[in-house]
Amino acid sequence: MKDISLNAVKKSFGGYEILQNVSFDLIRGEKVGLIGRNGSGKTTIFRLITSAEETDSGAVSVARNATIGYIEQIPEYPEGTEVIEVLKQSCQHIFELRNELRILEHRISNTKDKTAQTKLISKYEKLLLRFEHLEGYDIDVKLEKVCTGLKITDHMLHRDYNSLSGGEKTRVMLGQIFLNHPDILLLDEPTNHLDIESIEWLEGFISQYKGSAIIVAHDRYFLDATVSKVIELENGRTKTYKGNYSKYIELREEEIQRQFSAFKNQQKKIEAMEKAIKRFRDWGTRKDNPDMFKKAVNMERRLERIVRVERPTEAKKMGLDLSSVQRSGKDVIKLIEVSKSYDDLVLLDSIDLFVYYKDHIC
Ligand SMILES: Nc1ncnc2c1ncn2[C@@H]1O[C@H](COP(=O)(O)OP(=O)(O)OP(=O)(O)O)[C@@H](O)[C@H]1O
Ligand SMILES: [Mg+2]
Repeated sequence: MKDISLNAVKKSFGGYEILQNVSFDLIRGEKVGLIGRNGSGKTTIFRLITSAEETDSGAVSVARNATIGYIEQIPEYPEGTEVIEVLKQSCQHIFELRNELRILEHRISNTKDKTAQTKLISKYEKLLLRFEHLEGYDIDVKLEKVCTGLKITDHMLHRDYNSLSGGEKTRVMLGQIFLNHPDILLLDEPTNHLDIESIEWLEGFISQYKGSAIIVAHDRYFLDATVSKVIELENGRTKTYKGNYSKYIELREEEIQRQFSAFKNQQKKIEAMEKAIKRFRDWGTRKDNPDMFKKAVNMERRLERIVRVERPTEAKKMGLDLSSVQRSGKDVIKLIEVSKSYDDLVLLDSIDLFVYYKDHIC
């Protein structure tokens, strides 16, 4: 079953076509990585899915009744709203139901009238069924798990939400979304404000998540641990690759290599034909032979008809001759247990740092 489907979507801003042909499906339960350079249109895709923006053409469809969890921007709450209230907001109905059940329990115990009691019990049973269906019994455990995983401490739970830092607010919003357990998660750089332990917790959480997810992230390990499909957005177009991020890199490199050697072979052929045309023309002029000119014109026509293989953009941008240059490897910078101090001031204490090919770090 498809949770989301985009078909030949186009979107422009101010006359500039950001999305030219975006097509992909998100199958129920699938976790997908959405990859693309800054400004390529990833957030725009999320905004189209949530109907915050409209397409210029093409179709975006979301499964009927499917709920979506997406933090577009950090929302505002009235002054004095505690973090715990913000967190509970997404599952407010469960807490309200629990309260109602408690009140009913109290009334049932205190009602002497048998008919009234039977009526109350029947209402209680109905509500209890709904409470069970909403997994109400697990709500406290879920709240605790989410708080532990996202490092939302007891102290933080009772702080004014508005006084939190941007990163802390993001963690609370993630917590709120997870407690709500929507069918589809749209996560736009969720690891940005998280420390490594919370990132690892999030990896586990997403892997076990029953719903579907589209994840925009620049953290390759995070993507490797969570996604089984990668959608690459480049020059306004999408391409889908099966597998995690490492597999995507592998497949893409193979594709670039293939395209580059096809491009080079075709260039050789074109060059040879151009030389032959020049030769026929030379002979035609020198020997005053119209047949040679005819041959030249014929070959020119054949040359014009050749469908040109495009030079792969990656090779174009980097000015690489991929056919002859072997990559030095995936490791660009490797620091292992590096320490640096100035007298008593320890700046680096046994630091490990790995920068891999295509990593962007700050
Ligand atoms: N409402 C808008 N009006 C005008 N331009 C917009 C609007 N929304 C997005 N854009 C432009 O569209 C382009 C794509 O933006 P978008 O935020 O989707 O990129 P992104 O891939 O999410 O980038 P990043 O990785 O930096 O988050 C950008 O050039 C952006 O300035
Ligand atoms: Mg974005």
